[in-house]
Amino acid sequence: MKILITGANGQLGREIRKISTNYKNFKFIFTDINNLDITCKKSVSFFFDNNIIDFIINCAAYTNVDGAESNFELASKINISGVKILADMSEKYKCPIIHLSTDYVYDGKINARPYVETDITKPISAYGKTKLGGEKIIKNIEKHIIIRTSWLYSSYGKNFFKTIMKLAAKKNMINVIFDQIGTPTYARDLANVIMKITTKYSDSFKTEKSDFKFGTYNYSNEGVCSWYDFAYEIVRKANLKCQINPIETKDYKLPAERPHFSVMNKSKIKKIFNIEIKHWRKSMEKCFDETEIIT
Ligand SMILES: NC(=O)c1ccc[n+]([C@@H]2O[C@H](COP(=O)([O-])OP(=O)(O)OC[C@H]3O[C@@H](n4cnc5c(N)ncnc54)[C@H](OP(=O)(O)O)[C@@H]3O)[C@@H](O)[C@H]2O)c1
Repeated sequence: MKILITGANGQLGREIRKISTNYKNFKFIFTDINNLDITCKKSVSFFFDNNIIDFIINCAAYTNVDGAESNFELASKINISGVKILADMSEKYKCPIIHLSTDYVYDGKINARPYVETDITKPISAYGKTKLGGEKIIKNIEKHIIIRTSWLYSSYGKNFFKTIMKLAAKKNMINVIFDQIGTPTYARDLANVIMKITTKYSDSFKTEKSDFKFGTYNYSNEGVCSWYDFAYEIVRKANLKCQINPIETKDYKLPAERPHFSVMNKSKIKKIFNIEIKHWRKSMEKCFDETEIIT
């Protein structure tokens, strides 16, 4: 099976690239904006006309949550129009697509329990709106998997985990928000889950009747925390002296509004794909062991 990975230089794409060597029976084509801009219909069509692709994993996205407030057009171009171009190719060439979405499609006002996939989506940020726009397009394709994930981090790219490590190495005290509750997701764990689903899809053709379940799935690590708790654990693990000071969202002005509560229920993905999920603390420790922070 030949798998196209778009946005392969991002943190998730790079984690998939790292584990791809464990999947010798798949052929991977890793692309990013420099060689396959998903918003350019002509190049994407040319690419699909000249490569036989059996499966798409779309990691390409505009992911700057605050930037999207003032760059809505660009965010929409990548997260909606680009996704439509890929969706058209998926339909035309009958290759399924795994598409990544976000907990920021939820408004965070549920409070009583973690979100299930069928809960109402009502994004409160421009980024969340564009990601929901992308989901709506993908949902029109027969063979799609949407994975809503949250608070993604890795030893690659820019993310909260690395930012806190760098700041804590330099400062005596950092203010971190405690009234936004969610779950961090180690991009390596997500990459493993994506490959497990992809393998399951590939294996389903070896049986007479494929019972592969397309659809929308929530995925993050297990457990619940605030950004403050996450930062506290990073600093503790790194054995740094920096004090983490809990503050309220209202005292840390950012362009984009974020949900106060976006914990997701992962029962569906665990049951359908027989997945065990690690607690976020365990995964953070693994990421820590693999990360070399240049301060
Ligand atoms: N990061 C999070 O906290 C988070 C949370 C929830 C969900 N997600 C979702 O998870 C997925 C993966 O996120 P990530 O953190 O790995 O993102 P990322 O690190 O920002 O990677 C996205 C990649 O897509 C590339 N890209 C941008 N525009 C493109 C285009 N027109 N054509 C092809 N590639 C393009 C980016 O290139 P440039 O860097 O050059 O722009 C980057 O290499 C995304 O769908 C994101 O929305 C992320």
